[in-house]
Amino acid sequence: MAVDASADGRDEYFRCRADLLGPSRMRLLTGSELVTVATTIYGSPDFFSLYGIPASQMTERGLRIFGRTAIECSVDSYAVSLADELAARYSKRFGAAATPGFVADLFCGSGNIAYHIGRHLAVPTHAVELDPLIHRATQHNFSLVEVDIDLVHGDYQELLRTLAPRSPHDIYIIEPPWGPAYTEQGLDLTATSPPVPDILANIRRSRMGEPFLAVIKTNDQIANNSLRTCFYDAQHLASIIPAPVGPIGVNMNFYLYRVLT
Ligand SMILES: C[S@@+](CC[C@H](N)C(=O)[O-])C[C@H]1O[C@@H](n2cnc3c(N)ncnc32)[C@H](O)[C@@H]1O
Repeated sequence: MAVDASADGRDEYFRCRADLLGPSRMRLLTGSELVTVATTIYGSPDFFSLYGIPASQMTERGLRIFGRTAIECSVDSYAVSLADELAARYSKRFGAAATPGFVADLFCGSGNIAYHIGRHLAVPTHAVELDPLIHRATQHNFSLVEVDIDLVHGDYQELLRTLAPRSPHDIYIIEPPWGPAYTEQGLDLTATSPPVPDILANIRRSRMGEPFLAVIKTNDQIANNSLRTCFYDAQHLASIIPAPVGPIGVNMNFYLYRVLT
């Protein structure tokens, strides 16, 4: 895959990002726009794929992708890397002693993370999305692909309230909107909406003393030591660092922690 780390490549990335989070935020993208996004953001039309469907086939296969979701989503190769790591640790298929009682994708957007983790781990999978239009589009997209996910419309705290702890290996996926938390200095996880420390505090409250596993998605430029600040009392279990697709600051990483309550 082409990695365009030039100033032009970075400028083009940020122009595209600003459009997808600005004027095109709540607009369904056309097939050719999806391919343009794929090339600009990932350097390759095929790299931008969701639920196993590449950008070039998304509209003909009936997928509905809003501008916002096109830039915020975790594409298949990222979600599969994460799902592989979790499956190797927590899937009975690989002989793991411990399996999660559930996976909960708390800010699901496209739901692609839940889609892949649910399939790899074969455990009950929940996803929640606050925006009604994105929720409806994701529900529609899920209806087109083979999936068994409990997709809820609402605030992530509503899902937390209904999910009783089932195992110390229950997994929560945490990726709130970054908004102004993402600047040239990097991503400040204490300033996302909602801030990651608040999300962790709310999960803890819902756990009634039971430990849990947390996956956080970040970019590769973390500001203010904020990953460490958020997880200072958690045990780091794994870093999933996919090959970079662009200049520093635009690539995605995942971290897995065990959190005690
Ligand atoms: C960064 S995106 C997540 C992208 C997702 N991981 C994916 O792969 O598509 C954050 C999503 O969380 C949703 N959201 C924002 N606040 C929320 C809340 N309080 N509860 C649930 N979802 C929320 C947003 O509408 C947005 O779709």
